[in-house]
Amino acid sequence: MLTKLAPLALACALAAQTAAAQTATPLPRLESRDGHHALIVDGAPFVMLGGQVNNSSNYAEPLKTAWPVLDAMHANTVEVPIAWEQVEPVEGHYDLSFLQELLDQARAHDKRVVLLWFGTWKNTNPSYAPAWVKLNNARFPRMKDPQGKDHGVLTPLSSATMEADRRAFVKVMEYLRDHDRQNTVIMVQPENETGSYRVPRDFSAEGNRLFAQPIPAVLARKTGKSGTWTQAFGAQAPRAFNTWYVASYVNAVAQAGKAVKALPMYVNAALAGPSNVPDPTGVASGGPQWDVLEIWKAAAPAIDLAAPDIYDRASGNVIQYLDKYARPDNALMVPEIGNAKEFARFFWPTIGRGGIGFSPFGMDASGYFNYPLGARVLDHKELDAFALPYATVSGIMRDWAKIAATRPTWGAAKPDNGSDQSVTLGPWTITASWGQWQFGMKDWTWIKADPAPWASEPVGGMAVAQLSDHEYLVMGDHVRVSFSPADKRDDGMIVSVEEGTFRDGKWVTSRVWNGDQTDYGLNLIDRPQVLKVTTGFYSGKPR
Ligand code: DGJ
Repeated sequence: MLTKLAPLALACALAAQTAAAQTATPLPRLESRDGHHALIVDGAPFVMLGGQVNNSSNYAEPLKTAWPVLDAMHANTVEVPIAWEQVEPVEGHYDLSFLQELLDQARAHDKRVVLLWFGTWKNTNPSYAPAWVKLNNARFPRMKDPQGKDHGVLTPLSSATMEADRRAFVKVMEYLRDHDRQNTVIMVQPENETGSYRVPRDFSAEGNRLFAQPIPAVLARKTGKSGTWTQAFGAQAPRAFNTWYVASYVNAVAQAGKAVKALPMYVNAALAGPSNVPDPTGVASGGPQWDVLEIWKAAAPAIDLAAPDIYDRASGNVIQYLDKYARPDNALMVPEIGNAKEFARFFWPTIGRGGIGFSPFGMDASGYFNYPLGARVLDHKELDAFALPYATVSGIMRDWAKIAATRPTWGAAKPDNGSDQSVTLGPWTITASWGQWQFGMKDWTWIKADPAPWASEPVGGMAVAQLSDHEYLVMGDHVRVSFSPADKRDDGMIVSVEEGTFRDGKWVTSRVWNGDQTDYGLNLIDRPQVLKVTTGFYSGKPR
């Protein structure tokens, strides 16, 4: 009897040991309160300083090339795809070996993971679906165009496709539940850039039948609209219709995944211009673009947030995108942005808007570059541009995330026209100006000076948090930050500028800036520096 039980007891003891080695931590979650958002990781607010690998780096060897890049840029998180075709190459036969490889490599390199599920949609296409899905149009039908011809994109109206995708996604989530008790994976993105280009909805017989129906009651309640899709949405009706069905499909996939392991889940948008209502045939119809977020919110309650993929180099457009996705009901996160140097400065306005994460795309050394969207090559010039803001924030990452969850924050990037940017927080106006030396004023004529080397470059940004009535936390690079009383009649002054950091949640000063270091604004140029600025009014309170 004893000899029979011994191996079993040993197996149990070993299993218990393995489980104990993977200490369970609280599940990551998104918290939203009073218009502020926080991504909670290991029980405390967290800012994702991310980098996304190239699309085909979802294999052991190319993944290895990502870690030196991520380390060099001071990233704390990697975004990595896992493909339906690699998880379920044969129907019903699952292979999660890459997921284990990813967990092992990420843990060895001390990085958290955002997992990207490349399933039914990848930049709208079914390219990452397994061959048995791609090739079986009878069982997994494409959308039909208005002439009744097949479009390349799988229809969101097929429950067979949704159920097949969902089954595989649930296997991924089950694997995370069973093998990632320490939550190396902190967020999941079900699908990638959903929707359909050129054909705004499925014109199949079933598509036409549904399109003639009244809009769903939940959507009517959320938008205050009523009637059929055409009555409710006019010229945008085909796109609104497709958005509802794509979002409902993704919701079903996400919901089933969350029932297994309730990680935060988000969707990413291929953007179509920040200030125009997009042409329904020119945009990825169905995707979570800024102007259809109401539909996504109504159809996909299992999705925590929608996020912009930014490859637009025009600074005004980038800022508009950030503003459109930073909403009381939508935490801002930039899951993709070009990896060229000039995109790095938008990290600052992202976190200044309370952004929970930021991630340039193509951050590995697999030898692939997506120029003209990103950099021609990922050399030190590009990496350093991202490394500087990441290094600045990484030292106080938990503290910044906690502050941003409750206190007023703001951020700016040098605009294309180089104009000053300012904000009023409490009784102070804080102004960011660009391209200046650390000493002196631009309009001085009594002494000749060359322009600063970075004056003509698209670099520079800052973020500020108002810590109390009179204290501010300031960070940035290639920027001059000036404080002036919001009411010109006030006699405010900077009382002290402390450079320092937080230790165990408490501010620790390493030195006080004064004299040349404060006479011409606070000049944060080329190294990680965090400042606490204390202000005051010598003849009493501000007006
Ligand atoms: C956006 C997609 O989401 C990414 O996977 C990638 O294809 C980029 N576009 C282009 O490199």
